[in-house]
Amino acid sequence: MNENKKCPRSMVLTIFERIGGEDAVEALVTLFLSRVFNDPNLRLFFADISMPKQAEKQKSFLTMALHGSDKNDGEMLRESHAHLLPMGMNDYHFDLVIKHLEESMYELNVAPKLIGEVITVCESMREYILDRAPPA
Ligand code: HEM
Repeated sequence: MNENKKCPRSMVLTIFERIGGEDAVEALVTLFLSRVFNDPNLRLFFADISMPKQAEKQKSFLTMALHGSDKNDGEMLRESHAHLLPMGMNDYHFDLVIKHLEESMYELNVAPKLIGEVITVCESMREYILDRAPPA
């Protein structure tokens, strides 16, 4: 069994540090944020959100992606994304968000192994965000 699936929080706890600490993560947030908000296929979901709120969202997004998440986080994410489902959010949009995160990390020379770990954590949230995971 994949260790990451067994205990995501403890396993990915060091991803943040391994990526290069706060400065590197700050650079990643900026790049990722501009990619997501400039994507014409994602813009509609973020249209009503103020810039400080967007920045806050991205920070918490990456905190989760880099530090791991558990079932409680999953339930929180289910709730905070529920209003996006009637707007049409689906796997296609989820894939785009993941793609932007992955490409931002490649651009910043994050090691491929680390990129894989971050994407695995994000993938573990897909079913919650798209409201397909069984209730906790
Ligand atoms: C692994 C995937 C994702 C993670 C980890 C994630 C994480 C988060 C987090 C932590 C928040 C803040 C929640 C809060 O403060 O209540 C948030 C909000 C938000 N997310 Fe995501 N998200 C993901 C995927 C997506 C996708 C695919 C979309 C849309 C295409 C999306 C659109 C949004 C929007 C629009 C908000 C702001 C909601 C609001 O404040 O009205 N997210 N996300």
